[in-house]
Amino acid sequence: MAGRVIDGKAIAADVRKQVASDVAALKSAHGLTPGLAVVLVGEDPASQVYVRNKGKQTIECGMQSFEHRLPEETSEADILALVQQLNNDPAVNGILVQLPLPKHVDSNKILNTILPDKDVDGFHPANVGRLSIGERALVPCTPVGSVILAKTVQENLSGLNAVVIGRSNIVGKPVAQLLLKENCTVTIAHSRTRNIGKVVKEADLVIAAVGVPEMVRGNWIKPGAIVIDVGINRVPGENGKSKLVGDCNYEECARVAGAITPVPGGVGPMTIACLLKNTVEATKMQNNITS
Ligand code: GUN
Repeated sequence: MAGRVIDGKAIAADVRKQVASDVAALKSAHGLTPGLAVVLVGEDPASQVYVRNKGKQTIECGMQSFEHRLPEETSEADILALVQQLNNDPAVNGILVQLPLPKHVDSNKILNTILPDKDVDGFHPANVGRLSIGERALVPCTPVGSVILAKTVQENLSGLNAVVIGRSNIVGKPVAQLLLKENCTVTIAHSRTRNIGKVVKEADLVIAAVGVPEMVRGNWIKPGAIVIDVGINRVPGENGKSKLVGDCNYEECARVAGAITPVPGGVGPMTIACLLKNTVEATKMQNNITS
């Protein structure tokens, strides 16, 4: 029997609904309107689509959206100056600098200049540290979205064997931290892992975040496991067109899994929804609101 398909689009819409209600409550109880600033340097087409969607959804949730589009040749010093300006702007509660940045810019230098309490991407070392020691933190959006999706299948993840495939700072490592917080037994598999299929086969919950198209095969999956596919890979499709596939071979894995996210329509829509959620959280942190 084929596994249940986890509808990321519908679940992201639920998250946005909750964000809109939290924004309304912040306005009425505290007179606060959360503001999200996005900085886009250059003309990368995928980034432009992403930034446009972010702006639209930010406004739909009742928040303020600030967009800063800079030419490709903008100097590192000028980007740093803009980040400092946004750090000092009380109307801006969240700052996101869209990646990738042009090659002449040191991305880490820029990201580490964002005030940790406005770092809605959760990439600043202060937030990475806070997450790892269990303090209140801004947590990277895709990992948060992945765990929300898994919890729609099984609310209590405690005691599950979770295998994360991939060890990136953006997904692999933070999602492993979140799963540890959920009391999972966590293994991080990566390109040097021996007999990776056998390691994954032990998992009740698989998070695939390697960026290798359809790497995870059906015979790696334990029957009934929850499979969250973070990969978004563009590959050649039919009639000379390209198509999107995940890190899992969907047809094969869906036959064995208990539940699985599709690509597109799984983790993808959750990322912006969780960014909006983080902007609300950042606003609360900056104003010492605990709930
Ligand atoms: N580019 C693609 N996804 C992301 C993201 O989640 N955050 C940032 N800053 N840049 C991105």
